[in-house]
Amino acid sequence: MSERITIIVGDITRQKVDAIVNAANSSLLGGGGVDGAIHRAAGPELLSECKALGGCKTGDAKLTKGYNLPAKWVIHTVGPVWKGGDSGEDELLARCYQRSLELAQEHAIKTIAFPSISTGAYRFPVERASRIAIGRIKRFLAQNKTIEKVIIVCFGKEVYGCYIKAMEEV
Ligand code: AR6
Repeated sequence: MSERITIIVGDITRQKVDAIVNAANSSLLGGGGVDGAIHRAAGPELLSECKALGGCKTGDAKLTKGYNLPAKWVIHTVGPVWKGGDSGEDELLARCYQRSLELAQEHAIKTIAFPSISTGAYRFPVERASRIAIGRIKRFLAQNKTIEKVIIVCFGKEVYGCYIKAMEEV
């Protein structure tokens, strides 16, 4: 099952996969970081579709088309803002991965790329986030056979190192 998970350094907007996951905010109306990059690369039609979705709760996910992206679909999920760790952040982050993978399964998506959700503007410590992400992805893939490949796209070597370590340890 671990052979279905690949960790790379790169730009998620360039990934040729069925779906990429966006680390959005609850408005789903765009923002900075990976969200801004995805909207820029997808083009304005993505925002139009997002406007009709009525936002998204933290820990949940919603699907749109990918428009000008190489990916056919974008799964928008909303990670928790880090508040010190005692506000349910771990479980909310796990739910982002779970809900995104469930949506992928429902849409017969075989290849999916994730960014390191919540670890930028939302300040979730990356080492802790990487263990939660890998744990939940491994658990899901063990029970699901339709998803062939999960790529974790790290924006920089430091983040990459955390996910590689989590992959070995979790
Ligand atoms: N490809 C892959 N990863 C990227 C890219 C990219 N093109 N660009 C940035 N990252 P963040 P969050 C990494 O802040 O913490 C937005 O404004 C980045 O280095 O994008 O969940 C939303 O609208 C970091 O490792 O997302 C929300 O308001 C990771 O992606 C808020 O930020 C996540 O950083 C969400 O914050």
